[in-house]
Amino acid sequence: MHFSNAIVRRPGRSIVNGLSMTASGPPVYEKALEQHAQYVKALGYCGLEVKVLDCLEDYPDATFVEDVAILTPDCAIITAPGAPSRRGEVEAIKPVLNPYYSCIECIHTPGTLEGGDLMQVGNHFYIGLSQRTNEAGARQLTAILEKYGITASTVPVVNFLHLKTAVTYVGQNHLMVAEGFALPEELQSFKAFQVPIAELPAANCILINDKIMMSAGFPRTQEQLGLIGTEIVAVDISEFAKIDGGLTCLSLRF
Ligand code: GLY
Repeated sequence: MHFSNAIVRRPGRSIVNGLSMTASGPPVYEKALEQHAQYVKALGYCGLEVKVLDCLEDYPDATFVEDVAILTPDCAIITAPGAPSRRGEVEAIKPVLNPYYSCIECIHTPGTLEGGDLMQVGNHFYIGLSQRTNEAGARQLTAILEKYGITASTVPVVNFLHLKTAVTYVGQNHLMVAEGFALPEELQSFKAFQVPIAELPAANCILINDKIMMSAGFPRTQEQLGLIGTEIVAVDISEFAKIDGGLTCLSLRF
């Protein structure tokens, strides 16, 4: 799981219309742009070469580029977002991936799948079955991954948008787990850092090589996570959190 590259998409003004399950009000566009620039800088600090794509005004959630593709060492997989308003985003990501991948596969409807529902641990993908990812999508993905020697299994996601909204892998056999997420049996062999309700966005961390990116502003969780000794890079993405966006959703890493 060594990453050298990242792809991000700058938010457009339409981000104020992004899908949201929370009542925190719309993001402030200028502040979101500023936070996005800081996010790009942090990816660079983690050693990644970052490709920044232009915004897609027709798609308010298009900045959450992780949801539309899954990138493995040997193939890219274009997803089929479960949110109808996001389906058109996939057309825009295909040409971006062409220069990097000779094998590009696709998930087809009625299967649905969003990248936020995938948690990778080594050579295994946990696929969250959520409001956005269904059994048919998970089955298609599992069959594709198997062709490339990658295993996968499904876990239920209830009360959270995506699997990685609730749980992320931070290395050294540790998970960040949001309070209120019922950890499925097959994830119980990991050591878990419990993220309290008051700090829920901090459950969504990204392990990037020898560093962990986490959302800034969550001191209790940061202190806990600090115990594993990996350098933490904290980035404020509060404007994106207003429309249920996490750190992982904002980039594709490969
Ligand atoms: N606002 C992010 C999503 O719902 O996909």
